[in-house]
Amino acid sequence: MASKLIFIFLFIFLSPQLQLQFLSEAQNWVQAGYWISNGELPKKDINSALFTHLLCGFADVNSSTYQLFVPSASEPYFSNFTTVVKRKNPSVKTLMSVLIAAGNSISDENVNGSVLSSMVSDSTKRKTFIDSSIKTARRYDFDGIDFMWRSSNSGDLAQIGVLLKEWRIAINSEPGESKLILTVGVRYLPTSEMGISYPIDLIHRNVDWAHILSYDYHLPTRDNFTGLHAALYNPSSQVNTDFGIREWLNRGFPPTKLVLGLPYHGWAWRLVSPQDNAIGAPSSGPAVTRDGSMGYKAIKSHIRDYGFGVASEYNATYVVNLFTYTTVWINFDGVETVKAKIAYAKEKGLAGYCAFQLSNDDNWALSRAAAQEGDNQENKHQLLLKIILPVSAVLVILVAVAVFVLYYFGLRKPKSEEEMVLRSIASPRIETSAAENFGSDAHLLVFKFAYIKAATNNFDSETKLGEGGYGPVYKVLSLNYF
Ligand SMILES: *[C@@H]1O[C@H](CO)[C@@H](O)[C@H](O)[C@H]1NC(C)=O
Ligand SMILES: *[C@@H]1O[C@H](CO)[C@@H](O)[C@H](O)[C@H]1NC(C)=O
Ligand SMILES: *[C@@H]1O[C@H](CO)[C@@H](O)[C@H](O)[C@H]1NC(C)=O
Ligand SMILES: *[C@@H]1O[C@H](CO)[C@@H](O)[C@H](O)[C@H]1NC(C)=O
Ligand SMILES: *[C@@H]1O[C@H](CO)[C@@H](O)[C@H](O)[C@H]1NC(C)=O
Repeated sequence: MASKLIFIFLFIFLSPQLQLQFLSEAQNWVQAGYWISNGELPKKDINSALFTHLLCGFADVNSSTYQLFVPSASEPYFSNFTTVVKRKNPSVKTLMSVLIAAGNSISDENVNGSVLSSMVSDSTKRKTFIDSSIKTARRYDFDGIDFMWRSSNSGDLAQIGVLLKEWRIAINSEPGESKLILTVGVRYLPTSEMGISYPIDLIHRNVDWAHILSYDYHLPTRDNFTGLHAALYNPSSQVNTDFGIREWLNRGFPPTKLVLGLPYHGWAWRLVSPQDNAIGAPSSGPAVTRDGSMGYKAIKSHIRDYGFGVASEYNATYVVNLFTYTTVWINFDGVETVKAKIAYAKEKGLAGYCAFQLSNDDNWALSRAAAQEGDNQENKHQLLLKIILPVSAVLVILVAVAVFVLYYFGLRKPKSEEEMVLRSIASPRIETSAAENFGSDAHLLVFKFAYIKAATNNFDSETKLGEGGYGPVYKVLSLNYF
């Protein structure tokens, strides 16, 4: 009897403990951002305090030796990146990001798939690449390595899993205390464009996290119609972030290793007709810039200069139709969108977010919004904990009283009284049920479930109270990366 009572008491305390654990996990919330060495933002101006991780891009691979190298133009930026950003935030972690681009251009056309395929398919080349990446990261004092993986070659998928596994082994076998962090940037869906699945297990077992490149779903250089480039939801299409994240989770990728991508850029389309400015309206190609890409800062200044035309909001996606500029249609994520996406990431239990890229931010408006919304959501959980702990304590007392009362009356019964008591707790009406079930753990499970259900309901209503509406998101991109 006593041991079963102790068991009941222990499991009653389990839920608050899980909450506590949840809270400590929340402290590991990833707030990451890319800084690209050829961008406009001087690294001394990076507001490192808003981030837990900063990714410095991009290192490349030599297409004849397969050694990782930092292009000479980027070398001065890489050399003291860690020193400079840690001045404002000594605890920020830095990662060297690798993009196999064959020429270090970050534009999609220049990502050379054949170099990547050749490297990942050969164990000697993989070893050369891995060893040189660790050596280079150490030489420049980085805390980790990020692999921006944008190959569209389905044949590489399994091999990339092998690469990550060998990378992890090499990292773990380095002598010394501090292990390098290993992260990977992946497509918004866990399948290639050909529908072939990513090596889910090999990825999540070997990386610290994978960040989803959840943007550029539609691009003005690719599609002859306007579209949402980073829609969180889209009821009329599967090309949206929520759909992709759910696919990753459904296939068993742990949410605690999944990081949401936040685009700090948008895309400008040229409408065929200024009157036809809906999503999916005919477009004759990019507007404003050569490929239509615009940083958030540039979009804000463009809107200031030309004024708003029609602004529409779609489920965390915002479209601005600048009719004073007649045919320019811009889709981008603004402050409200960022907040909606952070709330979404928290709700799904994801590990954090990764912004691409910092020089496109407008005086840190998006980065600040992301950091603050993360804190708000965290405070909600703390509040929840403050409610759940006292409620649990009261429940424990009530259950103790109930157990005592039932046990006291149960003594008068000729049957196995302790099992009777437990059954009564789980469901008072179970008295008449079949005797075979008596004393089985099923009763305990029922009780636990009921308790957890009650606690969860509390949680949901609490969460709902604090939620705001969806923020605006902006223009559309096309699916160009994979
Ligand atoms: C690649 O390595 C070869 C041989 O060491 C070297 O000659 C070449 O300059 C390297 N290429 C780049 C882009 O660093
Ligand atoms: C960082 O390195 C660059 C080039 O090597 C140099 O010009 C700059 O002064 C260095 N900055 C600091 C803060 O050491
Ligand atoms: C990719 O790199 C390989 C090997 O250096 C080269 O032969 C090929 O032309 C490159 N392809 C593109 C599209 O740059
Ligand atoms: C927003 O998303 C929800 C859920 O997918 C959907 O029910 C709703 O119709 C959407 N609203 C708009 C304006 O797209
Ligand atoms: C867009 O492209 C598709 C296929 O490439 C074509 O069928 C369609 O007519 C084009 N639409 C416009 C408005 O150009």
